[in-house]
Amino acid sequence: MMRDLFDTDSLEICPGMVLLRQFADTASLQPVLESLLAVSPLRRMQTTRGFYLSVQSSNCGQLGWVSDRRGYRYSELDPLTGQAWPDMPAAFRTLAQQAARSAGFAGFDPDGCLINQYVPGTQMGAHQDRDESDVDAPIVSVSMGIDARFFVTGSERRGRSTAVDLSDGDVVVFGGPARLHYHGVRKLKHSEHPRFGAVRWNLTFRKAG
Ligand code: SIN
Ligand code: FE2
Repeated sequence: MMRDLFDTDSLEICPGMVLLRQFADTASLQPVLESLLAVSPLRRMQTTRGFYLSVQSSNCGQLGWVSDRRGYRYSELDPLTGQAWPDMPAAFRTLAQQAARSAGFAGFDPDGCLINQYVPGTQMGAHQDRDESDVDAPIVSVSMGIDARFFVTGSERRGRSTAVDLSDGDVVVFGGPARLHYHGVRKLKHSEHPRFGAVRWNLTFRKAG
């Protein structure tokens, strides 16, 4: 599922935030992702103010991140289907655990994975991942498909940011001093990936409960 750890090209974006380049074998993850979305389809989530996120989302695992007019929360049920989210596939879990370990966070045991689909023109504004009860656990973020520019500002939403371009197979792990850093994704430019087409997928693994 991932390359030999000794081959891993890694970069510290800032203390507590590590980029593992080309860590994920996305060709093998692609059919797994498709099977999940057949059970819990993509949908556009709404904010409390009634706006829709530009990305389309789904989840797998015990707890799924949902947002609607009532706010943000983790839910055991998919509000669209009324059923539990699909189980987290072993290939997903193993990848997240190996990435966390490589970044210095041994023992990571995710209970939820948020799936976001970005198409050209979509973006993710600066935010913190702070809806999880356990912020001692890191977040593992897997990129697939076309490139996107990821940015992190730190403990403030605004201000000077550090940016990196994330490509297919790149994994970002953030925890410790970076766990509550504000971060986001700049508006995607148009491009095509040979297998995914004009789409970027981001999987974020969390210990939510
Ligand atoms: C996010 O933090 O929600 C998005 C991260 C990414 O898509 O790379
Ligand atoms: Fe995030």
